[in-house]
Amino acid sequence: MQRIPLIAGNWKMHTSLGEARALAGAVVSACEGLTDREVMIAPPFTALATVAEVVRGSQVRLAAQNVCWEEQGAFTGEIAPGMLRELECRMAIIGHSERRQIFGESDGLINRRVAGAMRFGITPVLCFGETLAERESGQTMAVLERQVRGGLAGISVVEPAGMVLAYEPVWAIGTGKTASEEQAQEAHEFVRNLLFEMYEKSIARQMRILYGGSVNSGNVDALLRQPDIDGALVGGASLKADSFERIIHFR
Ligand code: G3P
Repeated sequence: MQRIPLIAGNWKMHTSLGEARALAGAVVSACEGLTDREVMIAPPFTALATVAEVVRGSQVRLAAQNVCWEEQGAFTGEIAPGMLRELECRMAIIGHSERRQIFGESDGLINRRVAGAMRFGITPVLCFGETLAERESGQTMAVLERQVRGGLAGISVVEPAGMVLAYEPVWAIGTGKTASEEQAQEAHEFVRNLLFEMYEKSIARQMRILYGGSVNSGNVDALLRQPDIDGALVGGASLKADSFERIIHFR
């Protein structure tokens, strides 16, 4: 079955308001006439309102890089789902490896964020991936299973478009060392089979699993030819308009 590919740009902690406005404008232009794929960009929180104005009315979807599980309250530093919706932002990256590795977010906390996002109408992009040490010690699939089951604990999915997953091997993020197509497909196929165990088959079949980790214009075509790779979550290359445009126009 054909899942609509999603090309997502995670801008991380980059772009001034002026840079965000210009980059978002370039992405909107790059997407004109595209009907067989979806494109999403995730600016820093500070640029969400600015970028929302640029992408409004276009096919470019807006995402946040994290989201709280409560609509309001004493959560210093957090952003509520309703605050995102107010900015026409309906997606959020959750459980990115930088949130896990640097800021210590646990599978349990990530699960709360996923549940809260869905409760308040935000589509999660749930990230997971192993470290180099875990891969080299043969723990990859066990780590992926723990993170996927942990992130999705108690989460029911009735609309497959309402849940996106992203496999991002930590050792490939920002390193230029992309997973090979075989490595990536093996991980995606493993997670797809996990989803078949966790959800009704037609739902599991339609849920999209993105690959992230040094995606660039030179490797995106081969990666997205793999049967269980349904798109890309792009970091560094999404900050350069021309390289992100080439990735958006993958063949
Ligand atoms: O979320 C995507 C990001 O982690 C991948 O970063 O720079 O390796 O494309 P990069």
